[in-house]
Amino acid sequence: MNDNNDDSFNEGTYKIIGQPIDRTDGRLKVTGAARYAAEFTLPRLCHAVLVQSTVPSARITRLDTRDAERSPGVLLVLTHLNAPALPQRGRAAVNPPAGRVMSLLQDDVVNYNGQPIAVVVADTFERATAAASRIQAMYTPQTSTLDFASAKRAPHAPATQGRAPSETSWGDFAAGVAAGEVKIDAVYTTPMEHHNPMEPHATVASWDGDQLLLYDSTQYVSGVRSTVAKTLGIPLDKVRVVSPFVGGGFGCKGSTWSHVVLAAMASRKLQRPVKLVLARPQMFGPVGGRPQTEQHIVLAARRDGTLTAMRHDVISHTSQIEDFTEPSSAPTRMLYACPNGATSQRLASLNVGTPTFQRAPGLSTGTFALEVAMDELAYALAIDPLELRLRNYADAEPQSGKPFTSKYLRDCYRDAATRFGWARRNPAPRSMQSGRYLIGWGLGTATFPAHSQPAAALATMLPDGSALVQSGTQDLGTGAYTVMTQIAAEALGLPLEKVRFELGDTSLPPAPVSGGSMTSASVGPAVLSACNALRQKVIMQAIRDERSPVKGLTPAQVTIDNGVLMSTVDPQRREELAAFLGRRGSPLVASGDAAPDAEEEKRYAAHSFGAVFAEVRIDQELGEIRVPRIVATYDVGRRLNAKTAMSQLRGGIVWGVSLALFEHSVLDRQTGRIVNSNLAEYHVPVNADIGRLEVAFIDEPDNRFTALGARGIGEIGITGVGGALCNAVYHATGRRIRDLPITLDQVV
Ligand code: MOS
Repeated sequence: MNDNNDDSFNEGTYKIIGQPIDRTDGRLKVTGAARYAAEFTLPRLCHAVLVQSTVPSARITRLDTRDAERSPGVLLVLTHLNAPALPQRGRAAVNPPAGRVMSLLQDDVVNYNGQPIAVVVADTFERATAAASRIQAMYTPQTSTLDFASAKRAPHAPATQGRAPSETSWGDFAAGVAAGEVKIDAVYTTPMEHHNPMEPHATVASWDGDQLLLYDSTQYVSGVRSTVAKTLGIPLDKVRVVSPFVGGGFGCKGSTWSHVVLAAMASRKLQRPVKLVLARPQMFGPVGGRPQTEQHIVLAARRDGTLTAMRHDVISHTSQIEDFTEPSSAPTRMLYACPNGATSQRLASLNVGTPTFQRAPGLSTGTFALEVAMDELAYALAIDPLELRLRNYADAEPQSGKPFTSKYLRDCYRDAATRFGWARRNPAPRSMQSGRYLIGWGLGTATFPAHSQPAAALATMLPDGSALVQSGTQDLGTGAYTVMTQIAAEALGLPLEKVRFELGDTSLPPAPVSGGSMTSASVGPAVLSACNALRQKVIMQAIRDERSPVKGLTPAQVTIDNGVLMSTVDPQRREELAAFLGRRGSPLVASGDAAPDAEEEKRYAAHSFGAVFAEVRIDQELGEIRVPRIVATYDVGRRLNAKTAMSQLRGGIVWGVSLALFEHSVLDRQTGRIVNSNLAEYHVPVNADIGRLEVAFIDEPDNRFTALGARGIGEIGITGVGGALCNAVYHATGRRIRDLPITLDQVV
């Protein structure tokens, strides 16, 4: 959060930032030249396969590996019986909530079905797979908890909860309820889910002496490096992590999971490079997922719609080995102006793999519950749902009283409502029919906090007049390569094609996890800072160069535009940057970093907002729910690239439809196994499931939040959609559904 007071960069006159530039890595991706973790190959590479427990809670009494060891091509079978002992039994890097308790074969204890219990390494993947199937495990079963309904009767408060407290209250909830004339009191649920990025987790581990190299599919190269170094008990500088392309993350690649360290352990033991790729079914358990939630909401309001009290109590599941909280109460803590309220987060432990951040954690599931409750209140009051939201509009963050860095939610509601045609809506349920189809229109509010963290970048001007700009961030398919290239080109005064941006390597300056929608707002300012410094350096050198046409001018009299150094007072005094740098012969380098301003963070609340209007069409006889169109408008600060921003928001909405209508990991309460652990039975939307997505932006830069005026856009698209669809289903059918996903049996 720094004000833009750098005179080398004139805010508001951007030529390249904001433009709908095609992805700079697009060609590499469509031609197959982009290399993903599993595609790296090394001499003597061998292949590892994970063997997983088939019971939810047990001690391993016997592990018969003889058949597997005798199988053709097998080089190593690693189990708790022969695995090297790690510092603190493998827990040296645990730093909740995202420093995972991994399963690293340090004991015979099984805490969930699917826990890694062995690693088989062979000369080919097929031989490793065949040998892995020959391992026989015998268990002494222990008591297990697999039923959320019973586990939630004895919930516990989270041991840790990131930066947010597990309980909040403001004003006087009981007095607020008493002052209310209409009350809503209901329970909403969302299911267990698994991320399923298109590219599964994959790691190639290779040792050169005491130096470990990891090609890993990750949202956080620096995080993998420090976790692996601490876990193995080796110095940080002995580990390098490389991740140039990631085929989707959605949160599951934000932490380091067991398979990464296991690949490194196997590789060290064999003194050969080892590749370990998870199979699709292995994505359901040992690498996180979204916790199941049960959310109890109480709303009280006066007849005129003014909220007098709100309460949001959440229970979500976690594992037996670690606390992870799905912070679904988050929107209730900041979205509406209400003088009295309380929220709480509780956990119910199950014998399952530890859940984790998934696609707008808390805000996606929380806006579903809150926005359905608001719709219920609107109907109870006979007030239009949009009008109810406007009557409780928060001009400052309700609990803290802090002003927002910027907020244009009212404009979002107005713009999206107009484009959708909301004014034509007859509020009566089942009032809009078309033949055998029931039509319903619903509204939901979108919101996601704006985050940033310290980041660093390096910028190098090469003798040919092109620039190399680097930061150890990641691109999950979101557009980070493209947007950072645009920022660098803009700041350096170079055409886009003269800038190359590199990322995904711990040998580059460090950057935070690509999670929490914060890459643009964290790395963008660092790139800007490095490139501004480099631009100044180039100008300082040029004005001292005997042969330069800008020789003798002051720095303020020189600019660089489209790769040309020129005088701002006499445009005739100009020279191609490449000519000057070529004469010089050696590169110019500058580094830069950026960090959020702690004082500004204390004074302001930073959030993005949006309004989502959805139409559903429901077949009265079959119960089939279709979504012909969603119209949404977002206030996300400045768009750094109009095209990738549009893709991010549309993609987010698709995942919102997925949350509302499709995703559901079904846990077998006998075995603790996810029974639909494949993409045939774990449903996500396909192209035919998505209708028109009409997205618009309120283009107001948030210059209080970052010098670039941009807030993150990775996750907000998912939020609000579940509520909008659920409310549309009510409007269509008259059925109030409070449990996701909405399936046809609930509406017929
Ligand atoms: Mo995201 S769930 O913050 O990777």
